[in-house]
Amino acid sequence: MFDLMRTAVIRKEHFNAAHRLYNPDWSDKKNDRVFGKCNNPNFHGHNYELLVKLIGHPDPETGYVYDMKQLSDVIREEIITAFDHRNLNRDVPEFQQLNPTAENIAMVIWQKLRKRIDLQYELKITLYETERNIVEYPGE
Ligand code: NI
Repeated sequence: MFDLMRTAVIRKEHFNAAHRLYNPDWSDKKNDRVFGKCNNPNFHGHNYELLVKLIGHPDPETGYVYDMKQLSDVIREEIITAFDHRNLNRDVPEFQQLNPTAENIAMVIWQKLRKRIDLQYELKITLYETERNIVEYPGE
């Protein structure tokens, strides 16, 4: 296959979730200083925009790199069902011991999706925590 044919497909999804940024090894004062408003003990929410990018070669028969309906289903099953309208710190096992920063959320999303997406595809995660704060997790 020609590498010139390598093509990325991107599925955009959305979830709302609450979190609190907090390091249990630090004093309240230091948590406040480092995390500011994101350290609010009563949590706060974000409207996360998630971009899931797969890079591969279009199938010679379908012309698709990946069936987007199938990709949407995988993201819904692995991520949206688990994260949407949840408190990430309290409801999502992956964040019981891991601070739910956008960086860590993107990494967890990558790990969960990597198990479901064939290794012939490169997988990259982009997570918008706000319109202006964006994290990329390039994976391997
Ligand atoms: Ni926040």
